[in-house]
Amino acid sequence: MKSKTPYFELHLQAFKRNLERLEHLQQEPNVKILHTLKSFNEPSALTLIGERLSGMSISSLKELALANEAKARHIHLYAPAFKGEELTLMQEQVDTVSLNSLSQWRRFSSVTKSSLGLRVNPKLNLPIPDYCNPNVSYSRLGVDYVEFLEQYRENPKEFSSLEGLHFHALFQSSFQGLWLLLEHIENNYQELLPQLKWLNLGGGHNFTDDSYEVEEFVKRVQAFHSRYEHIELIFEPGESVVSSCGDFVTTVLDIVEVAGEKMVILDTSTETHLLDVAIVNLRVNVEGTQPESTPYFYTLTGNSCLQGDYIGEYFFLEPLKIGSKVRFKNMMGYSMVKMTEFNGMEKAKFLIVDS
Ligand SMILES: Cc1ncc(COP(=O)(O)O)c(C=O)c1O
Repeated sequence: MKSKTPYFELHLQAFKRNLERLEHLQQEPNVKILHTLKSFNEPSALTLIGERLSGMSISSLKELALANEAKARHIHLYAPAFKGEELTLMQEQVDTVSLNSLSQWRRFSSVTKSSLGLRVNPKLNLPIPDYCNPNVSYSRLGVDYVEFLEQYRENPKEFSSLEGLHFHALFQSSFQGLWLLLEHIENNYQELLPQLKWLNLGGGHNFTDDSYEVEEFVKRVQAFHSRYEHIELIFEPGESVVSSCGDFVTTVLDIVEVAGEKMVILDTSTETHLLDVAIVNLRVNVEGTQPESTPYFYTLTGNSCLQGDYIGEYFFLEPLKIGSKVRFKNMMGYSMVKMTEFNGMEKAKFLIVDS
């Protein structure tokens, strides 16, 4: 049966393969892998994640409801700032919470009943684009680790209820990033580690990529636990849970020739289904194209009234015509979660296919 575009298409077998890889990592004692809901939150697929992974990482009441619906076992809560009344409601239903700043710590640490942590900025020097690099010294995400350690040393009593530290410092990282992060932790928080119960090592791990060094991961985690057996290592990947397991499919509505260029208008838009193209200039991979020149060169554009609704320029292997399908590859992470209805455009449907 032909589906009406635009739609997201999750490939079940590839998705299960990702989950299997993550399950393998979380088999290590004292390791939990949580799916970060902000990256992907389609309820029909979350059930499977709830069954297979250790839990979910959430930021809001809405995500809490989704995690509960998917029967997530361990739920971690973090947001850059909480409203008091929402935190009160949520903290009773979650297992671990990270507060983001010293001011949030001072307001909420005495009233929060679940296991409490603080997000710290380790300021690692990593080649990550600025817009998504939480290590930059001016980041509002997490307390600068130098400042945190000063405060802790001055008044350790203030942090007597601290059970965890949270570091989200990596981006599409190989094992090397984890190695640097654990080295930073073991070198800098010696006096604090005995009191901690967990470390949340954030997302940004390329866990499901074929090139990820699984054996190195296991060795490093075991070495850490040989020194700090009492500390649970929590990971909260988003992108890698759903990477390479689904596409976004659209249809060509019109092809107009302007100043010698062929402009293709698709039944989508950078404002509605492809927001990262607009926000971070993401270059999306399109099926049936190649980087080198072919005779079929098109500018893909959206169907909103925004002049700048350009998706990108592509060399296709075959000519496009009205009604052709254009398939954007690897589109599960950070796409369907960001959909809007700008210009009255419909949200894309979500299909699961058994491939
Ligand atoms: C605090 C936190 N944890 C985890 C993630 C997931 O990161 P990724 O999708 O890169 O694995 C994010 C993403 O922004 C985040 O902000």
